[in-house]
Amino acid sequence: MPSTSPLAENTSNTLAENTLTENPATWTGSSLVSVKQMTPGGLRLLLSVSEEMKRLVRTSGGDDRLKHRVLSNVFYEASTRTSCSFQSAMLRLGGRVVCVDAQHSSAKKGETLSDTMRCLECYADVSVLRHPVTGSVAEVAFGANAVSKPVLNAGDGVGEHPSQALLDVFTIEDELRSAGGLAGKTVVLLGDLKHGRTVHSLAKLVARSGIEGVKFRFCSPQALPMPQEVRDEVAKYGLEMEDFTDLKKAVDGADVLYVTRVQKERFETEALYDEVKDLYIVDPTVMAACPSTMIVLHPLPRVNEITTAVDKDPRAAYFRQMENGMFVRMALLALVLGKASL
Ligand code: NCD
Repeated sequence: MPSTSPLAENTSNTLAENTLTENPATWTGSSLVSVKQMTPGGLRLLLSVSEEMKRLVRTSGGDDRLKHRVLSNVFYEASTRTSCSFQSAMLRLGGRVVCVDAQHSSAKKGETLSDTMRCLECYADVSVLRHPVTGSVAEVAFGANAVSKPVLNAGDGVGEHPSQALLDVFTIEDELRSAGGLAGKTVVLLGDLKHGRTVHSLAKLVARSGIEGVKFRFCSPQALPMPQEVRDEVAKYGLEMEDFTDLKKAVDGADVLYVTRVQKERFETEALYDEVKDLYIVDPTVMAACPSTMIVLHPLPRVNEITTAVDKDPRAAYFRQMENGMFVRMALLALVLGKASL
């Protein structure tokens, strides 16, 4: 299977045609493939609907706005949080979910991804899709044989993970609210920056968010640097970036430490993975050297990169981040199905 779809290099026009703005009508019926679809106003709308969803869950658990609507949840790669939070999001808004496990679908018989997705849209109103090929979700949403109903990218290989970036920004704004939110903050992205789709989407989203003065520090093993394409996108919006290999130096004066797993499944051999795994481990000793107001995020799953001893540190925000994922995905489903206003 190729790791990049031919459409991956050629999505800019179709993405530009599917820009998501502060006008909810631009979201209705639209797919979310890349954070490049987002405008500053679109992000503000998403964040405020997510806040409403959080309040809704806290006060009444949910409502029935998506009653009789069906989500098809299609995962060709492993997932716990993304899959379960999209399912819970749909259920909390009164909808139902069909889950497709690629191991048991007609993909096993050689059916193309496009045919599988066109089949599922006969049954469902919206699809969530995770697939190992970069650009594959763009192809399903905007390619020659595109589906006509919304598709939400739940991760396309090493490409993007837009709903994760949205929940990450929601979490940073929430956690740092008393300090003015994300604006002007120093964000350290740590770990496998080469293969981590969450950090690719997060850097690109923050860059185009209109949130001013954010500085990035990229801290990774030398073999796993942030890709040039992401750096170019960040540079286009004028954000500062600095590279580090030394974690202690990277966290000096930082506001956010965003930790990622070394993506074992993206390495050609186990030996190459072994060379770079466990180079950074955030433990209580590292935390003692970090600013007292710095928050720690991780999209999870973690392997060894944050020890469980850090979990009880009040700066460890990754479990709160995980819960926020459900609120943000409720907002996404409500918006693309035209049911965002309360
Ligand atoms: C991430 C992913 O799948 O990209 N997990 C997630 O969606 N929360 C991160 C990872 O697998 O390391």
